[in-house]
Amino acid sequence: GRPVYLDCDTGIDDSLAIAYLMAHPDVDLVGVGTSFGNIDAHRAARNTLDLLALGGHDHVPVAIGAEKPLSGAWNGGPAHIHGANGVGDVELPRAGREPQTDESAADLLVRMAHEHEGELRVLAIGPLTNLARALDVETALPYLVESVVVMGGAARVPGNVTPVAEANIFNDPDAADRVLSADWPLTLIPLDVTMEHLIEESDRATLLAADEPLPRALGQMLDVYYEFYVATYGRRCAPLHDPLAAAVAAVGATPVMAPTVQVVVDATDGPGRGQTICDLRGERVGYPVQPTARVRLVLTLDAPFGPHLIERLTS
Ligand code: BDR
Ligand code: CA
Repeated sequence: GRPVYLDCDTGIDDSLAIAYLMAHPDVDLVGVGTSFGNIDAHRAARNTLDLLALGGHDHVPVAIGAEKPLSGAWNGGPAHIHGANGVGDVELPRAGREPQTDESAADLLVRMAHEHEGELRVLAIGPLTNLARALDVETALPYLVESVVVMGGAARVPGNVTPVAEANIFNDPDAADRVLSADWPLTLIPLDVTMEHLIEESDRATLLAADEPLPRALGQMLDVYYEFYVATYGRRCAPLHDPLAAAVAAVGATPVMAPTVQVVVDATDGPGRGQTICDLRGERVGYPVQPTARVRLVLTLDAPFGPHLIERLTS
């Protein structure tokens, strides 16, 4: 499989993404870095190790990264969305190992980029602090990796933490700005697409009925997640933010409806903080080439992703 490096803030949809990557025949998960976000970076690392152990991936190195954004403080994760432990208050069986402490997440990413030069796919599904740090550590990083896929932002739809800002970008707009303007092939998976691909109550039942402990644990976690999203969708279901980004990284090909556009992150302290300002002015004429544009923005996906995810997680 293709070498994939994951940076995450292991909450519930991150857990689904990790399980998906482990189950994907074309993916070789070579390392995971964790960040604050849904939960603190230490707990995110523990959650990750426990999930990797459940999925038979005890060999994958896990390094702890940023506990706060590049500037300013972090005020704790949203326990009402991901539970007090990040994984919906499910007690996962403890992995038989601890996260690496001799190497930061940024350093692990840089090491993996050298080890898999020209081939590494970087997938970021949390705040972008670790990736921004890695760009500082190794200025050639953009030329060492094959591609970067980021779950974050909102192009034409509202945000989810403020009227305009999505959580991963809002949690560290300075880092997001650096990562989105670095000279690497980057695909952004915004709320525009993730809010349209759902996991349903019937899918939860399928996971709970699985033979393996990992899908069953994921089914249990979803209870808390569904409770939160009832207010958005009017029924027990949830959007597949992080697994969708994982699927784009796993396939490697960018979906059809993904123009390359200029994306600027608002890092000011005003009401626009964390907004991804996407230059979609060419929409009616099929997005003509913008000389300064560098972000591939995924706006729609052709097929429903939920059934594909459940199939992968349970077969
Ligand atoms: C993103 O924020 C996090 O809470 C989720 O795990 C996802 O990465 C969605 O806005
Ligand atoms: Ca996440």
